Amino acid sequence: MSNYDVVIIGGGPGGYNAAIRAGQLGLKVACVEGGVTLGGTCLNVGCMPSKALLHASEMYEAAVGSEFANLGIEVKPTLNLAQMMKQKDESVTALTKGIEFLFRKNKADWIKGWGRIAGPGKVIVTNNEGVETELQAKDIIIATGSEPMPLPGVEIDNKRILDSTGALSLPEVPKHLVVIGAGVIGLELGSVWRRLGSQVTVVEYLDRICPGADLEAGKTLQRSLAKQGITFKLGCKVVQATSSGTGVQLSVEPAAGGEAELIEADYVLVSIGRRPFTKGLGLESVGLATDNRGMLENKQHRTSAAGIWVIGDVTSGPMLAHKAEDEAIACLEQIVGKASEVNYNLIPSVIYTRPELASVGQTEEQLKSAGRAYKVGKFPFSANSRARINHETEGFAKVLADERTDEILGVHLVGPSVSEMIGEYCVAMEFSASAEDIAMTCHPHPTRSEALRQAAMNVAGMAMQA
Ligand code: FAD
Ligand code: NAI
Repeated sequence: MSNYDVVIIGGGPGGYNAAIRAGQLGLKVACVEGGVTLGGTCLNVGCMPSKALLHASEMYEAAVGSEFANLGIEVKPTLNLAQMMKQKDESVTALTKGIEFLFRKNKADWIKGWGRIAGPGKVIVTNNEGVETELQAKDIIIATGSEPMPLPGVEIDNKRILDSTGALSLPEVPKHLVVIGAGVIGLELGSVWRRLGSQVTVVEYLDRICPGADLEAGKTLQRSLAKQGITFKLGCKVVQATSSGTGVQLSVEPAAGGEAELIEADYVLVSIGRRPFTKGLGLESVGLATDNRGMLENKQHRTSAAGIWVIGDVTSGPMLAHKAEDEAIACLEQIVGKASEVNYNLIPSVIYTRPELASVGQTEEQLKSAGRAYKVGKFPFSANSRARINHETEGFAKVLADERTDEILGVHLVGPSVSEMIGEYCVAMEFSASAEDIAMTCHPHPTRSEALRQAAMNVAGMAMQA
């Protein structure tokens, strides 16, 4: 039996950041991870491999399409899918090894195996050989993450009917890929395979893509993706998918009911959301239970059981790596008695398509339904000199500010590399900045960030370059 101050179950962005912070705070900490590597969904089968393929496929499309040729670069590229997958896997391995290094640096122990709570302060770990180890801890943090949501009638086999993990390592480019769900995974991985040559059809239950995003931003992104060749079937549901081993036949109905249509595909990606993962966790041993969505509730990261905390995808809030990381820091600081909390109003979100969609704060729809009076400042990337020079003119920057105080309430960007620029507004909004504060801040020329400033200027109708 080993004694710790803190035992964390799960080694994803929630768990590994909690372990690092615990080490920094001088606590004796262990992180239990049953996967082969640390890093969780994000590093192994999520954020990182998807961004590796998005980057590589973007380069490929630029070379194979007209983009390089327009720039005067004549090449005859061929796709080496095996190499594309290999470089992705190598990057992932390097990143997961990096977490092992950070554990050593911060004196956090990685206990390999699957953890189960066995009463207050007690975690039993079963390793791959079935050997059990008992850990004692003053505090236990549950950071067990999430798993893909299943769809009745569409059984995932990861041969023809895939979840995101399967779609990240296909051995060939699908001729026709049907994506079920026009959310973040569907749009990102649909974009990867379209760029590599697939015909892509996205079937979405709602009458819009990426629900939760600002409607105007979502519509703008949809237009761009449709122009690139993705077909959207909105307001539709897949009720059945039958795999023949070489292809899949899907039965698709209008969401409101009606006659079914048959669609043939060689691969299907099911990306209709993720659900919290708590299987085999022994919650009952400490009197905990999940709600009807399978989620563990928390109050400032505490569960209702003394000494048991919960962070990341397995609990409420957006299922994002940076949200899990923020909760890890706040949770650990609370464990040692510091005041620390997560600002859930300012968790940015990004869809890494081309153009990208990045946002923080409230959408126009949220402000309207809250009855909040607001002003809008918009600026198109087509009027931004750097975007024009780079031939990346789709999209806009939109700033929503309080009508009376001018405080920035929401920012929605559709455009080139906006994932790298939204942080400016996260910082500004943490300091309760007004649109005028951004409008009066000098930005470097020529950069796409100038569009963000011009949008802020336009909250007062003062954009100078459009
Ligand atoms: P996870 O990363 O899921 O980690 C949980 C870990 O716990 C896993 O390693 C699991 O093996 C382990 N575990 C579970 N039960 C036990 C147990 N009983 N004992 C031991 N170990 C256990 N988010 C972003 O912010 N940006 C992105 O670009 C992004 N892209 C994504 C792309 C894809 C394809 C997917 C699927 C997700 C993406 N996400 C992205 C979401 C992001 O991956 C998650 O929000 C994040 O990983 C959540 O971190 P977590 O620590 O809560 O859980
Ligand atoms: P999602 O919640 O983003 O989107 C799911 C979509 O499927 C929604 O549009 C929903 O209306 C639709 N849907 C649900 N049931 C359906 C049905 N039966 N038929 C057709 N459509 C249906 O979920 P997704 O894309 O699976 O991603 C899961 C989570 O992973 C995201 O919510 C996000 O938190 C995280 N993620 C984040 C990324 C990022 O930050 N860039 C990238 C990828 C994933």
